[in-house]
Amino acid sequence: MRGKFISFEGGEGAGKSTQARMLRVSLQSHGRAVLLTREPGGSPGAEEIRKLLVEGEPERWTPLAETLLFLSARADHVAKVIEPALASGTWVISDRFADSTFVYQGVARGLGIEAVRRLQRAALGDFAPDLTILLDIDPGAGLARAGRRGQTENRFERFDAGFHARLRDGLLQIAAAEPARCAVIDGSRDAGAIAADVWRLVAERLQP
Ligand code: TYD
Repeated sequence: MRGKFISFEGGEGAGKSTQARMLRVSLQSHGRAVLLTREPGGSPGAEEIRKLLVEGEPERWTPLAETLLFLSARADHVAKVIEPALASGTWVISDRFADSTFVYQGVARGLGIEAVRRLQRAALGDFAPDLTILLDIDPGAGLARAGRRGQTENRFERFDAGFHARLRDGLLQIAAAEPARCAVIDGSRDAGAIAADVWRLVAERLQP
């Protein structure tokens, strides 16, 4: 039987990576084979493209050039890693996927949702996650959390506060428009409380 594809989305510091790892453990203890992956990246070619995207000055790429790089990375990731895993019955969890492009490039960088939708359709057809979990957090709190992790900031953390507020609104709009695929979970709480909600949702929607 084909595996299920779950993506996590959220602003900087929303806890996606932690929740993705916790969900992997829960699914594995239910006997599922699980592949945990991330974007941008997830395949050797896409990891190369990732470096071009996350390093350097905020204005390094135009919004269009940036979008095409994300889609190129995604096309490789889907064809070489995600699709073969799903076909072999493995469940796939991705730390970010296509909704990130809608909100970061489409909304926050201003290319427009419609332009991104057309490009995304050309790159991926109608391939989409079975479930997308949006971890919602106030952008200020999220950036503070991301800062405490002590990683070097990436290009996108250096855009201004308005950029991050537009991201949050964009994600909430997607969730409202596609309730069958998406669910919003309050990401401001501790990891255990969030993970319990995530598990309830996955159990209800995907019957692992
Ligand atoms: P990463 O360090 O993985 O950030 P995070 O921990 O927040 O996921 O860097 C990826 C950055 O790329 C992140 O700031 C979001 C951005 N991004 C886009 O702008 N568009 C996209 O389609 C994707 C997948 C990510």
